[in-house]
This record gives sequence, structure tokens and C-alpha cells, in this order.
Amino acid sequence: MKSQPGFQLLFVCLGNICRSPAADGVLRHKVQDLNWTDRVFVDSAGTGAWHVGEPPDARMIAQARGRGYDLSKLRARQFDPKKDFAQFDLILTMDKSNLHNVRALSQNAASLARVRPMTDFCKTHNVKEVPDPYYKGDDGFEYVLDLIEDASEQILHHIRERLK
Ligand code: 4NP
Repeated sequence: MKSQPGFQLLFVCLGNICRSPAADGVLRHKVQDLNWTDRVFVDSAGTGAWHVGEPPDARMIAQARGRGYDLSKLRARQFDPKKDFAQFDLILTMDKSNLHNVRALSQNAASLARVRPMTDFCKTHNVKEVPDPYYKGDDGFEYVLDLIEDASEQILHHIRERLK
């Protein structure tokens, strides 16, 4: 059962150093702009443990900084099914592999229903995944931010409705 007040939003990717910290940073920023920080908590995690404790990838930090988002204080952690399914109201995954892996860790229908692809919330991009930019050039990181910014408006709308 849910253990935290307000609305708890979690982004999940594979390493928690590129895509999900970018989404975390963008949505935290927007939550601050809306003065919702006492009601909305945003976090991110990776399904893998390779980068636990590390800051986001320097390329992701730089691209996000260019759009006014500070990711530098975030640190990678691994998705914790026991804690995270209890805490978070909405768990947004980045690609089909993350979606499959997180859904496979859910123990009941209520947890399963909270896991959705972030791209479901995109308004202008009709895509199913946020591609892993790790082995790509700057364009890959820019595209990650394009998709996150596109999804952010409808994510905030969803939260606004859920807080009513
Ligand atoms: P992310 O990108 O899932 O968006 O954080 C990755 C970063 C690192 C690795 C994989 C994906 N890696 O295998 O180290």
C-alpha cells in the first residue's frame, strides 16, 4: 500500500545515468516552478546496478543544463521493487525493456497498473520508447530531452487531476 503523502512520481531506465535522471530533473524543475514541492515528489532509478552512486552522464548533464535543468546533484540508484512499488503512484519507464523488467517485478495488479511507458504522455511525438543515448552522439541526448519535455505537460496534467 502507498506509504507517502501527496503524489510520488518515479522514472526508470536501465542505468539511471542518462534518460531517467533527465526526466527526474525536468519534472522536478517544473514541480518547483508550480510551487508543488510539498505535494509532489519526483525520483528516478535504474533496473541495473552498474552505476549506483554515480552522477548522471556528463553529456546528459551538459545537454540538460543548456535547457535550464540542473542534473548535477542526482545520484544513480537501483530500482527497489519492495520499497518503490509501495511508495510511488506512477512509475514511468523509458523503453520496452525497462517496462517489461519493472512489470515483471510487480507482485500484484495494483502495482502493475502504476507502471507505464513515459511516451504514453507525449503530445507531439508518436513513439513507444525513449532510445538509450549512451552509445550515441549529442543528437541522442537532445532527442531524450525533446521527448521528456513533450511528455511533461501531460504528466503534470495527470498529477493535477490525481491531486484533486
Ligand atoms: P540510461 O543509459 O539507461 O538512460 O541511464 C544507460 C547508461 C549506461 C548503461 C546503459 C544504459 N550501461 O550499460 O552502462
